[in-house]
Amino acid sequence: MQTVRSSEELAQSLASLRERGRLALVPTMGALHAGHLALVAEARSRAEAVVATIFVNPMQFGAGEDLGRYPRREADDARLLGNAGCDLLWMPGAADVYPDGFATTVHVAGVSDRWEGEARPGHFDGVATVVAKLLLAVRPDVAVFGEKDFQQLAVIRRMVADLNLGVEIVGLPTVREDDGLALSSRNAYLDTDERMRAASLYLALGNARRSILAGQDIGAAVSEGRDAVLRAGFSRVDYFALVDAATLEPLEEQAGDMRLIAAAVIGATRLIDNVAV
Ligand code: PAJ
Repeated sequence: MQTVRSSEELAQSLASLRERGRLALVPTMGALHAGHLALVAEARSRAEAVVATIFVNPMQFGAGEDLGRYPRREADDARLLGNAGCDLLWMPGAADVYPDGFATTVHVAGVSDRWEGEARPGHFDGVATVVAKLLLAVRPDVAVFGEKDFQQLAVIRRMVADLNLGVEIVGLPTVREDDGLALSSRNAYLDTDERMRAASLYLALGNARRSILAGQDIGAAVSEGRDAVLRAGFSRVDYFALVDAATLEPLEEQAGDMRLIAAAVIGATRLIDNVAV
């Protein structure tokens, strides 16, 4: 696997990779785990060449968030990506992505507004802007993202359709620990006790899903889910909701493609998760 940093090096390497056939992109912020590597494996199965990016994107972190302490493990990450069959790793610097005078923001209205968008103002503008830039710099045939960040995936699908970016967006099911906790780079922040309790977020989502499918009132099912998460030792639930899977609008009754989504804080760590309904 080749590693490049500047846009010039990237363009050169891409030219030769493209000769092999279809190109797949896997954008990440590094501190890679088996969830990221599942995306690389999926990319590998869909294209002749796989490009991954590692860029801890300052634009998607709010003031007081964990930008400064976000785990950085470049050497380990590069080794994992190489073993997973990635052909090219692009690790741009902040000045490559946001040079002096950079003034453009991509804002995806509607689907960005609620949930993570409300809890983290500006977060999805940062995500949409950087993903647009990565897609335009690499111009892949297909890009692979995780359902772990379900609203992010919906924002990216909306943006790619609206801007005719001409790339196929593939969403992959969440890779989990044995107890159900979704793999996340932020799980590293959990202490032993928090880690033990953290899986209750997923368990509560699963219970709410079963209740809803069994015909229980949606309001009652999500409020029970929220209570279960608090009882398990989370200090705050930002949201626990049944939503339309494409628009992320809340649902008061069952309709079409549905998703249960949740975000909650345990200790100093904010976790998100979701399940299909
Ligand atoms: P990051 O959090 O590093 O995640 C990179 C990709 O891995 C995202 O598509 C995310 O949904 C996926 N992912 C994370 N945990 C996963 C899991 N347990 N199972 C499956 N996939 C998982 O998401 C970002 O970075 C950034 O916002 C980015 C899209 C790179 C833009 O900066």
